[in-house]
Amino acid sequence: MKKIGFILLLALVVLTGCSRGGIPEPTTETIEPTEPVIVEPVEPEPDPEPVLVMDESPVIFQMGEEAEEILPVQQALYLMNYDVEETSIYDEKTEAAVSMFKLTQEDLIPNGECTEWTRDRILLEADRRSIKEPNDLLVLANKTYYLAADYVPEDLVQPDVFNYYEDKRELREPAARALEELFVTAKEETGVKLVFRSGFRNYDIQKIIFERKVKERGFEAANQVSAKPGQSEHQTGLAADITSWSVKNALDEAFGETPEGIWVAENAHRFGFIIRYQIDTVDITKYQYEPWHLRFVGIEEATKIVEAGVTLEEYLGEI
Ligand code: DAL
Ligand code: ZN
Repeated sequence: MKKIGFILLLALVVLTGCSRGGIPEPTTETIEPTEPVIVEPVEPEPDPEPVLVMDESPVIFQMGEEAEEILPVQQALYLMNYDVEETSIYDEKTEAAVSMFKLTQEDLIPNGECTEWTRDRILLEADRRSIKEPNDLLVLANKTYYLAADYVPEDLVQPDVFNYYEDKRELREPAARALEELFVTAKEETGVKLVFRSGFRNYDIQKIIFERKVKERGFEAANQVSAKPGQSEHQTGLAADITSWSVKNALDEAFGETPEGIWVAENAHRFGFIIRYQIDTVDITKYQYEPWHLRFVGIEEATKIVEAGVTLEEYLGEI
């Protein structure tokens, strides 16, 4: 009984706060009871709805209208690879291109209306795609990025190799010297004799070539084999078209099957060149197989590109 009485007394003291009588005083610090931490399950944030901002800026060109301000829009669309002509008239082709351009922009309604906002976006996008460092040996000129019409490299020279044309074609100096070494080594190692057909082409020459192809085959087919002005690697001065007697000096896919073409494919990187448009890379480069089209990037980069087995687009992370 005594024991039970003692337990009851102790319980009473504890319940009444242990502060009086002969029980030791607690420290003056108040110990806050700790709240249990309740961890709420975190709901994942829902993806934000795409914001379709209404383009309420005024329509600036009417169908059939002729105006000076239409020309820069057409030029920008043309450079971005739309099938338009530089007429200064808001014609059907221009309207279709505007509509297609708007389709590529998440927040523009894809119709053929050229509003002020649309025009600004077209010009901005064209500027983003213009090549800012054309002298870089790793310059990427393709259907996305293009050179200014007046770009001409400053270090063009005629490589001392066997030329197809009497008016010998030019390349930028490092590419020219590398091509000379490639030709000499090809002869030494295999007896192969190569022919240099085409090197630097300026914007205007490329325009003539491209437009001739468009007349022959139509825009889409032409653009599989020929670059639009501004988009050709030949304007960089770093591309060389080479061939051989065995294919009658033609720029033909058959070159890739010849001993000369095979040697070039296997060895071009030793001199700083890559075969730019491979048979299995059409989806990426957007041009057909051209075993004759060499592109100079320098020995180190060419070796890395060949070892990685990638296109220049992939190597530069631009696909
Ligand atoms: N044939 C290549 C694609 C060019 O025209 O530059
Ligand atoms: Zn070429």
